[in-house]
Parts: sequence; structure tokens; C-alpha cells
Amino acid sequence: MNADGRTRLNRTPEWTALAKHREELGEVRLRELFATDPGRGAGYTLQVGDLHIDYSKHLVTDETLRLLRELAAATDVFGLRDAMFRGEKINTTEDRAVLHTALRAPRDAVIEVDGENVVPAVHTVLDRMAGFAERVRSGAWTGHTGKRIRNVVNVGIGGSDLGPAMAYEVLRSYTDRDLTVRFVSNVDGADLHEAVRDLDAAETLFVIASKTFTTIETITNATSARNWLLGELKAGQEAVAKHFVALSTNAGKVADFGIDTANMFEFWDWVGGRYSYDSAIGLSLMIAIGPDRFREMLDGFRTVDEHFRTAPAEANVPLLLGLLGIWYGNFHDAQSHAVLPYSHYLSKFTAYLQQLDMESNGKYVGRDGREVDWQTGPVVWGTPGTNGQHAYYQLIHQGTKLIPADFIGFAEPVAEMSDELKAQHDLLMANFFAQTQALAFGKTPDEVRGEGVPEELVAHKTFKGNHPTTTILARELTPSVLGQLIALYEHKVFVQGAVWNIDSFDQWGVELGKVLAKRVEPALTEGAEVQGLDASTKALVAKYRELRGR
Ligand code: F6P
Repeated sequence: MNADGRTRLNRTPEWTALAKHREELGEVRLRELFATDPGRGAGYTLQVGDLHIDYSKHLVTDETLRLLRELAAATDVFGLRDAMFRGEKINTTEDRAVLHTALRAPRDAVIEVDGENVVPAVHTVLDRMAGFAERVRSGAWTGHTGKRIRNVVNVGIGGSDLGPAMAYEVLRSYTDRDLTVRFVSNVDGADLHEAVRDLDAAETLFVIASKTFTTIETITNATSARNWLLGELKAGQEAVAKHFVALSTNAGKVADFGIDTANMFEFWDWVGGRYSYDSAIGLSLMIAIGPDRFREMLDGFRTVDEHFRTAPAEANVPLLLGLLGIWYGNFHDAQSHAVLPYSHYLSKFTAYLQQLDMESNGKYVGRDGREVDWQTGPVVWGTPGTNGQHAYYQLIHQGTKLIPADFIGFAEPVAEMSDELKAQHDLLMANFFAQTQALAFGKTPDEVRGEGVPEELVAHKTFKGNHPTTTILARELTPSVLGQLIALYEHKVFVQGAVWNIDSFDQWGVELGKVLAKRVEPALTEGAEVQGLDASTKALVAKYRELRGR
């Protein structure tokens, strides 16, 4: 029994039943599952919003799914979900509510934190963002010299970068093509250098995105950006107001930096960094795509929020996807999860999901403060198809590891392209369908022999198959569909954290590296004697100084 009154997860009867079921299923073959149930292909599907979800190519039976749902019931996933939507402080280690769902709530919704309805403030900020975005887009907002803004540079890191940077790529065809929008995150000066080297400072707006406004990378880059701008314009501090806006929860630090808080767009401590791009953190994106498209995206998020909140367990897609991940991670020893979008526009999608999933569920301590003795979050990875096919798919097909994968594709190519380029879409999608088929069903030795392959090569050319995949298919990649996809993964991650009994909304693991970096820096710059450096790091620091001629 846990301190919180819960039975240890892996001692619950539901967990034990799943472990037993896993043994009984043994090496169940997808070929057999499909042969014995001709309705499986059409039957193992669900719909949420515009997303068609096919989970037929998973190593599961009806019984597996029933047992997984029982585990979810035993761990009260829906109870925690309801507490989250109600605004309870389910982020217990930081004593915070978890209310990214309030960011896309309708104007008339009532969601209270500490007795205060947060929805009006959400819409006030959205309206301010919309007003500002329109002024930039129309040219009404001008820089210090009176020129209109043509370049927007978002400076932020982690959740203050990955979301808007990803969404900007995804929705490129919806952006104002006359605007240059760039994202700077890395404290490596090369990032800012490359971002501004060909820009006219007089036409450039910096959007400084930082929830805390204390993150060293962002504040360092923002300071360098300010110095670059003032140097280029040969202007004083008064130019900052026209070229810098801030997205933050920390008005004091924003003012300290020299940005007028009238040019600050606020959000709140109940929005986690990695859950924040639909808050003020999305301002650069909103400038690029316009407020209407941004609101369409929020509607997409809301569609999946409502589904997650209300759909019964059997039809609840985030619940299903979360439980499938648990099936592989905890009962098949899978260590990673691939997300493979068949859309070039989703090139940064998996990088975004890495933070969402790995910063949320990369934890070995449970909510009760005890170490878990079950696997938690997987390594999430992947790049857009078909590029991956010519790189690492070999290992997925014929390697020794089980790698469950999500395949995400769209029926329609992006409308903006020429007819010739649109025609390439069928080839892209032929690969999409062929890959999940090959992964699931492989090729038997007899089939290989039937192709006339010499006996000594038969083993090499055999594909065992049985590699599980989820197919997510939508008609078109719109702002709404992007919102739906993100909310789907947010809630999937939530489900897994709830079952594993971990706090998916803190990130203490990031802190140690930050503290140590601060300590090491004087050793690099001044050769200062730093207490507590281990022998390896000390030698490396000395080598670095030698290489730099210090
Ligand atoms: O990397 C740790 C982290 O705290 C992330 O969770 C967060 O998204 C990122 O730093 C940036 O933080 P901030 O928005 O406060 O600059």
C-alpha cells in the first residue's frame, strides 16, 4: 500500500491480470488476429473530431483492451481528469492547477482556480494578442524609425519555443508570406547570429517568450538581441518599446529587462511551459497566421478536450492511446515510441512531442514520493516519412527492439502547391500505407522463397512483422486539425502519468543541470577554482581552456 492509500500499481489485481494475459497471449501474431477476425480492420477504429484512428495493427485483443481499461479504472484516470478540468491543484509538487484546457475554453465557460474564474482573463489576453497581431500584420504597428514590421523573431526555449516553432512550420501555408518569422532558442550565439544577420533592424520585432523570464538562455539571447537592435538603429533605450514585446507570467522581471509591461502578454502559473503554445506564448504564431486561424486552432484543441472529458472509456481516443503505450512499455519492455508523420509540414512535430512527453513523464518518483518500480515515459523520437524509411526504418523492421509507432497522414496535399507537386501526394501516402502493412504482416520465409530468392538469403529477406502501429488519418492539415493532434497527445501523456501515478506537470529533473552550468561558467571564463568539480569534468574544463588559448 502507498502512503496515499493506493495499492502499488504493480501489485494491483488489474496489473497482475494484464501480466498474466500477456503470458497467455505469448507471441500473438497480427496475421492470426486478422485471419480470425475479418472485421478487425474496420472494427478497431475510432473517430475524434477530424481524426480517424486505426488501432487494428496492435498486438491486442478485445480482452487486452478490456483489461487495460480496468487498469485505467483502478487507477482512477477519469477521476484525475475531472480534477484537472475542474482546476484542482493536481500538480502537487508545485501546488498548482493544470489548466491548459482553460486556454481554449469558450468565453462563457466558468473554470475556477482559488475561487476565481480564469476564463475572462484568458479571453482578455487573446483579444489583446489579436489586436496586436492585426496591427503588425496590417503595418499599423511601426518600428522606432516608422518602418512597418516585416520580421518577427521569437526568442524563447523549451515550451516557449518548441510549440510556436513547430506550429509555424505546420501552418506555413496559412502564414502571411510577406513576413519573415524566425525562432531563436539556443544560447549558442550562432542561433541569434543566423536569425538576424540578413534582417533590417528597423523592420524587426523581437518577441521574448519566457514563462519565468529568468531562463538564462532566453535572457542572454534577449539581451544580445536588444544590443544588436540598438546598435543597428544607433538608438537609445527608447527604441525598445517599438521592437520588443514579452510573453510571460512575470511582469516584474519583464519591467526589469526594460520592456514596457503594456507590451507584455500574460499567462499564468497554471499553464505548464510545455502546454503553453496556445496561450500568449503563441503570439508569434498568431502574427504569422492571423487571429482567425489561431482561434480555429483553439477550436480544434477544444474538440479533443471535450471528447476526452466526455467520451466513454471504450471510445475515448487519448485513453486508448495512453493505454496502448502502457501495454508496450510495461508488458512488452518497449523502451521507445516513434512518431512518424507523413507530412513535411510536421517536420518539428516529434521534437515538440519529445518535450511534451519526456519532460512530463520522464520521472522515477511517484506522486507519493516513492520510487516507482515500473517503467514510466518512453523515449519519443521520429522524423517525417519517407526520409526515415531511407535511414532508420531498417531497425524498426528487422532490428531486435520492439518500437511501437504512430503514423500520421493526410488525404489531401496542401492546397497551395502546383498540380504537379500535389500529384506527388499519392506516392507519399502509398509509402505511408505500405509501411504499416509491412511492419504488421512482414513477409514469411515461404513468401520469400516463392519470389525465387536463393535459400542462403531467405532469412535475410524475411520480415517477421508484428510491429505495432497506430494510424492517424485526417482529410487535411488545417489549424483545427493541428489543435486536435496536439490535444490528443497532451491527453495521452496525461493518461499515462495518471496510471503510473507520477506528477506529469513538474520538471525538477531539468534543474540540476541549470545549477551546475552556473557553477561551471566561471571556471571556463576566469579559470576560477570551482568547488565540487569531479576529476573528469575538471580535466575537460582544463582542456577547453587550453584549446581556447586561455
Ligand atoms: O527546460 C525546462 C523549462 O523549465 C521548460 O519546462 C520550459 O518550457 C523551459 O524551461 C522554458 O522556461 P521559460 O518559459 O520560463 O523560459
